[in-house]
Amino acid sequence: MIILGLEGTAHTISCGIVEMYRDKVKILSNKKKMITTKEGGLTPTQIGEHHAEHIKHITETALKESKTSVKDIDLISYSHGPGFGNGLNIVNIFAKTLSKKFSIPVIGVHHGAAHILIAKYLLNIRDAIYLYVSGGNTQIISLEKNTRFYVYGETEDIAIGNALDKLARSLGYGFPGGKIIEELAKKGSYFNMPYTVKGMDIALSGILTFAINSIGKHRKEDIAFSFQEHAFAMITETLERAMAYTNKKEVCVVGGVALNNRLQEMVRIMAEQRDAKYHRLDKEFLGDNGAMIAVAGYHYYKYGFKGDVFKAKIKSRWRIEDAFNLE
Ligand SMILES: Nc1ncnc2c1ncn2[C@@H]1O[C@H](COP(=O)(O)OP(=O)(O)O)[C@@H](O)[C@H]1O
Ligand SMILES: [Mg+2]
Repeated sequence: MIILGLEGTAHTISCGIVEMYRDKVKILSNKKKMITTKEGGLTPTQIGEHHAEHIKHITETALKESKTSVKDIDLISYSHGPGFGNGLNIVNIFAKTLSKKFSIPVIGVHHGAAHILIAKYLLNIRDAIYLYVSGGNTQIISLEKNTRFYVYGETEDIAIGNALDKLARSLGYGFPGGKIIEELAKKGSYFNMPYTVKGMDIALSGILTFAINSIGKHRKEDIAFSFQEHAFAMITETLERAMAYTNKKEVCVVGGVALNNRLQEMVRIMAEQRDAKYHRLDKEFLGDNGAMIAVAGYHYYKYGFKGDVFKAKIKSRWRIEDAFNLE
């Protein structure tokens, strides 16, 4: 079946078209348009306006590139939450309008579930612990019996991507900040920062405040390097604890922060030391994208999680444990 997926929970508007045959994924197209800034962050109004301006064109471009027409689409899938209301509303209305106009079934999916499901299907993952790291999330998760997500550990305060973005902003850079911090860190050296692990959970606001307070006292490069070393080690430590606890032998990092090579390296080394299989997803599918929403739509459809999207309201807050419950 051919699925059209629409993403728009935050900074990126994207349309992906994928063909699924017996759980095998063929990516036909995956077009994205992301808001970036030279300095400072993003506002919800900016996000809504950006998505409204580009959603039609990005969908047309994705259809063209995939060499399919709307009539070939068997299912429309869109990100129903969590995220910024302004962006969610645009995608929601657009998906449902397409669905009505062309009489194509439509499914609303959970954004975090989609980050995980594209890794699962593309890499043929059976039973992994997933590290989901993005602007809004830092969670250690598994998918049980294809029908329920479990969260073993997470951040108690802010997400790692958000912390990296804030640190970059304080250093005078724009959005997204994670990539800038990674670049700076390449020329940095180590100094001590707070390290807060609480069982399976972590806290990042203490180390972030410390790093911001170090500006002017240490080189930017050293702040970036030391922040990454501490924060990623905290995350990898709890990830390893979850693998030991569950006895799972596969691991995969997903979400925008998974673009970071140092974090991926730490997780790979930890996996090798435990004789676990380390999966690395292609970078095209790590940051927000429409293809992941399409693959998630397939999974929801396959396992019967349709819900009544015309009744369901957008969900700006939505825990992944409830990902298969739309209402
Ligand atoms: N190379 C990188 N290293 C670390 N973080 C990164 C890198 N590239 C992007 N990021 C971070 O990824 C986050 C975006 O993740 P993504 O999943 O695309 O969006 P969202 O958090 O809105 O779901 C941002 O916080 C951004 O700074
Ligand atoms: Mg995301």
